[in-house]
Amino acid sequence: MPNLFIAPCVLALFGASGDLALRKLIPALYRLESARLLHADTRILALAREEGMDAEAHFALIETRLQEHLASEEWAPDVWERFRGRLAFLSFDFSQADAYRTLSDLAAGDLPLVAYFATPASVYGAICQHLVDAGLGDRTRVVLEKPIGHDLESSRLINDAVACCFPESRIYRIDHYLGKETVQNLIALRFANSLFETQWNQNHISHVEITVAEKVGIEGRWGYFDQAGQLRDMVQNHLLQLLCLIAMDPPSDLVADSIRDEKVKVLKALEPISSEQLAARVVRGQYSAGYSNGKAVPGYLEEAKANRASTTETFVALRVDIRNWRWAGVPFYLRTGKRMPQKLSQIIVHFKEPPHYLFAPEQRPLLSNRLIIRLQPDEGITLHVMTKDQGLGKGMRLRTVPLLLNFSETFHTERVPDAYERLLLEVMQGNQNLFVRRDEVEHAWKWCDQLSAGWEQLGDAPRAYPAGSWGPGAAVALIARDGRSWYDDL
Ligand code: BG6
Repeated sequence: MPNLFIAPCVLALFGASGDLALRKLIPALYRLESARLLHADTRILALAREEGMDAEAHFALIETRLQEHLASEEWAPDVWERFRGRLAFLSFDFSQADAYRTLSDLAAGDLPLVAYFATPASVYGAICQHLVDAGLGDRTRVVLEKPIGHDLESSRLINDAVACCFPESRIYRIDHYLGKETVQNLIALRFANSLFETQWNQNHISHVEITVAEKVGIEGRWGYFDQAGQLRDMVQNHLLQLLCLIAMDPPSDLVADSIRDEKVKVLKALEPISSEQLAARVVRGQYSAGYSNGKAVPGYLEEAKANRASTTETFVALRVDIRNWRWAGVPFYLRTGKRMPQKLSQIIVHFKEPPHYLFAPEQRPLLSNRLIIRLQPDEGITLHVMTKDQGLGKGMRLRTVPLLLNFSETFHTERVPDAYERLLLEVMQGNQNLFVRRDEVEHAWKWCDQLSAGWEQLGDAPRAYPAGSWGPGAAVALIARDGRSWYDDL
């Protein structure tokens, strides 16, 4: 049965033989095919600049990589046949006008063209200009992968070049965290439950923690990663987006720009961190040799193709303050790193203690409610509430009890959809809610640039932490200075 709800399009995948396309985008499209969520008329054009690669070789590559990335029960020859039937391959030199004429012939018709750029951001502007010159401008939506630049200035240049060709309403900037199921759920949790919204401010919340930890190291991406570092690769986008969704005011509706306007207000209210405050507010780390899954693993500087003298950070912990009425005096502690003990993304909202204390003094440290929003793995929401321990003869002994909502158990979902599945569907539908507007990207860069500039000015080098640990000891000290600890240290 053709899917009648998802609009048809021609999806042109620029960089179709690259890591992102083969690891994330093509598996996401295959899963949409498997779930029959692609319109019968949707076609996928795989564009790659591979010398000597023809369509058969490219399809064979896709088939092999799909089988590697999908769970064995997801692979089905009939789904592959259907998916393969939508695919066309074009050996494509992005800089040649002829190539775009061929693309235009292949994409002939009046369906929207979704041009997905899984390429370096430096070529976005040139590709856009070629698309317009080939007469494809009016029907094209462009999808831009992060990172858009490496600082405010370079991101402006890229955004300007794209804006010369397409209006903002047809530019979809990806931050794949916005496509994650639980991140979506943040909006429902906050704005569909008055229980939380009335407590969501400095009167009731003491602090917020956001941790995005990865177990993996650099995974063959040393060249890219070393130019970026964890601040640019993760904080500038994913962590600040999560912070915005937690901290923003309720939008008046769910229209894309209403949500984006609220997020921008948060970004503008982030307190700058001067170079004098840097040492107390921010910790940079770089992993050294250690253990992961019980196996010895090399340090960042010993990874393949590493520059042994690199001072790029693979870990950042920071205290962020928001200058507005809602959040005055409520620190947000952010922490993200590679080669941590586990893959874990979670947000913890710590509520204040009750204003008047009635129980035995030794029980006092227990006394604060916590809301834990687990983004991955085991997506779910837990509210820690205080109860009396049951039974006679125990007096008023308190216990923390979790009220747990585990999404997969509650909704009987076998598999949480990958963020890219949702994001691809949203672009096909022309819905910009889950994409980042230009001013969001630029405010986030502006705030991060002051940190990079401060590090440069102070000649700050990252502190070593062993692979498989939670980062340098200084990250523990950062939060301990405020009399607190990271949740996993409790
Ligand atoms: C990407 C970063 O944006 O996000 C990677 O460039 C990182 O360095 C990845 O590994 C993490 O995404 P996820 O969805 O696995 O948490």
